Amino acid sequence: MDKKHENCAELAAKFEQAEHELIESERLNRAKSYFLAQAVHDLRQPLQAQRIFLQLLQNTKLSSEQQNLINKSMASLENMQTLMDNYLDLSRLDYGGIKYAPSKFELKVLTDKIAEEFSALSSAEHKHLQYIWCKTEVFSDQVLLERILRNLLSNAVKFAKDTVVLECIANDTDITINVSDNGCGISAEEIPYIFDEFYQSGQNPEARKKGTGLGLAIVKKISAILHTEIQVESQVGQGSRFTLNIPRV
Ligand SMILES: Nc1ncnc2c1ncn2[C@@H]1O[C@H](COP(=O)(O)OP(=O)(O)O)[C@@H](O)[C@H]1O
Ligand SMILES: [Mg+2]
Repeated sequence: MDKKHENCAELAAKFEQAEHELIESERLNRAKSYFLAQAVHDLRQPLQAQRIFLQLLQNTKLSSEQQNLINKSMASLENMQTLMDNYLDLSRLDYGGIKYAPSKFELKVLTDKIAEEFSALSSAEHKHLQYIWCKTEVFSDQVLLERILRNLLSNAVKFAKDTVVLECIANDTDITINVSDNGCGISAEEIPYIFDEFYQSGQNPEARKKGTGLGLAIVKKISAILHTEIQVESQVGQGSRFTLNIPRV
């Protein structure tokens, strides 16, 4: 074999080796994510039991000091459960444990349910949810779409000054869902990072405390499964708008 052919053969062998190593490291990565999902799933069970015991304790005769301590304990338990749910979603998404199961459904049935829930949540924070619905059939995964909307709306309610908007628009080619708020907004420099795992901006320290920095990372991974794109428009001090486009099939 001449020198040129020898180099080619060597390169091909190296390429094959690198490909093999990549496949193996992806397999190990998925196995780690699977392990994490199982661990988090198991950890949620005793937390759930603890929640039930605390609820039972709340219904007994308690001094105001004890009641106050139980309320704090319940709030921290709820934070932990939210964190666990986010870790579970992310690790399931990473090992491929969340599958795309599309079906045809009426969008309004889904958005009515979510709007009702988030309207109550907004009122509890002295904010208002404006809901603009449209009646149209969608072909998508209802459970995953709901998760995206819940994550976007919980951010919008958390960051809004006083108003959140959930707006659905249907035309011949696609269906657009906008989730907007009139909150602190996101700077142009920060927008590329908000979908990263654990990224939280310092704009609103109070809202930051209420989060995990995982919601939008989950949104990004789910939107890739749904083959939808999420766009963000925002102005600091004015508010933000997250737009989801679902193509008609
Ligand atoms: N509607 C919004 N208004 C202002 N900032 C937002 C909004 N949605 C997301 N962000 C920014 O993106 C970060 C990441 O969001 P997310 O992944 O949902 O994390 P979390 O809500 O747990 O902080 C937030 O901490 C915040 O800085
Ligand atoms: Mg969030």
